Amino acid sequence: MDDHTALAERAGAEYGTVVLIGGLDTGKTTLSISMIRAALGAGKRAAYVDADLGQKTVGPPTTIGLKLVTSEDDLDRERLAQADACYFVGATSPQGNLLPVVTGVARLLTLARESLGADFVVVDTSGFVSGVYGQLLKYHKLELVRPDLVVGLQRGEELDPLLGIIRRFFATEVVALGVHPAVAPTSVEQRAANREDAMRRYFGESRLPGALRGRGNPPADLPGGRRAQGASAGLGSGGRGVPREAGGPPEPVRDRLIEISGRPARYRVDRPR
Ligand SMILES: Nc1ncnc2c1ncn2[C@@H]1O[C@H](COP(=O)(O)OP(=O)(O)OP(=O)(O)O)[C@@H](O)[C@H]1O
Ligand SMILES: [Mg+2]
Repeated sequence: MDDHTALAERAGAEYGTVVLIGGLDTGKTTLSISMIRAALGAGKRAAYVDADLGQKTVGPPTTIGLKLVTSEDDLDRERLAQADACYFVGATSPQGNLLPVVTGVARLLTLARESLGADFVVVDTSGFVSGVYGQLLKYHKLELVRPDLVVGLQRGEELDPLLGIIRRFFATEVVALGVHPAVAPTSVEQRAANREDAMRRYFGESRLPGALRGRGNPPADLPGGRRAQGASAGLGSGGRGVPREAGGPPEPVRDRLIEISGRPARYRVDRPR
């Protein structure tokens, strides 16, 4: 058994909340899913919090997604993509959006544990790990999530500064692992195509915003008006995530949490397709 498989087995069986950290293409998502599979094998009710805003496993790009996983069938990638709840951030990168990312992870974690009864939660994060803002993001995320295990997947020693901060300030166990030799990189073009596919899967063909086809951030408006009943509250009025009149104060966003499967539903959104 290789180190990654052994860690997945141990995490799924023995821990309650795990955060995975790593740069792009380090195997975060694959290891997250292996941990959930191990947790299911240990008889647990698992949840996946997908805090990667661009390369989505759960929910559409620009959101943090939550999926309750109670059976192996839920791990089918199409099914896993159908979120039980999303927290709208409005960009495919956490840069410039640290507060909503941290807040969204915390809210979805609470929802997973307290409303959905999950006893194993894995938080899969973005590849934004370097520099002061990467460190700020991960530090504050951990401050709220308080996981019992942090896994750092790294090439060489790229995560050493960040993992050093985590070891210094948190009591949580920290495990650093190398990148699995079978990990295959994803090209920039493939990442853009993945984002487009994930948007299309969620919204259907007709409302795909053109900006998502490119490499940059999409506009702040998530085109949710068609499906969202009352989601003008969740997404901002007129479907705008962070409404801002020129020269005026920002219009308050009442709630960025969109609960899709309706347990409990404050802003119901029809399941796509
Ligand atoms: N242990 C493994 N065995 C075989 N293939 C793997 C393994 N880990 C990752 N891969 C493959 O490598 C690729 C990248 O892995 P993965 O998507 O898990 O990485 P990631 O860090 O989540 O990437 P991203 O930065 O896009 O979020 C995928 O095609 C995945 O199937
Ligand atoms: Mg990933």
